[in-house]
Amino acid sequence: MSDQPTLVTADHFAYITERTRPEPEFLRKLKLEARKAGIPPIWISWHQASLMQILLKLNRAQQVVEVGTLAGYSAIAMALALPRGGMVHTIELDAKHADFAQHWISKSDAHDRITLHRGAGSEVLKKLKSNSADACFLDADKASYPLYLDECMRIVRSGGLIMADNAFAFGQLFDVTPTDREAGAIKKFNDVMAKRAGLHGLIVPVGDGLWVAHKE
Ligand SMILES: C[S@@+](CC[C@H](N)C(=O)[O-])C[C@H]1O[C@@H](n2cnc3c(N)ncnc32)[C@H](O)[C@@H]1O
Repeated sequence: MSDQPTLVTADHFAYITERTRPEPEFLRKLKLEARKAGIPPIWISWHQASLMQILLKLNRAQQVVEVGTLAGYSAIAMALALPRGGMVHTIELDAKHADFAQHWISKSDAHDRITLHRGAGSEVLKKLKSNSADACFLDADKASYPLYLDECMRIVRSGGLIMADNAFAFGQLFDVTPTDREAGAIKKFNDVMAKRAGLHGLIVPVGDGLWVAHKE
């Protein structure tokens, strides 16, 4: 054993992929069609989706809130990990993304476990009841993450799970002059997460860095 971590390379990720439960054909097809429809390919990786599914199952999650639906990839992946009667409430501001996602959600095996809310994350989250969810996943406009986190700390029950994507700031975490306009917001949010009372979190190096946190 050592405190020195193994440097994870692209080879490790290829190795992991070969040893991860395969991505469902439906989700592969959804991504293909989303690209054809001109939707940006900024969904989470299958590694991330697998990890999130495992965490949701371990947490026995039934009610999940997501901010940022895009094409519906992560919402469907999460819903597939829920028991019958469970629900992913996913929020999307962009009408084109919401229309595409709703079409694919309706065709998916998890169609009865996803409710798509159209509108801004800040507005929809306000309407959700306190202690009404087991888990929350943030994957939308990064400047609003601190506000979304406040809402999720209210909405998610004690013992629940809070996850947020892009902790590695689109690969630009250590860039002195990052080109991505949201990189600065992510850096600030990472510090908010690290210091937030009542939250035990860790950035897991899958995809672009996934915050995984237990709400105490
Ligand atoms: C990175 S994508 C989400 C990817 C999706 N979670 C997945 O992995 O399949 C971010 C989405 O958030 C949406 N979005 C941006 N600002 C938003 C806001 N204020 N409220 C709700 N959705 C927003 C964007 O339109 C986009 O579809």
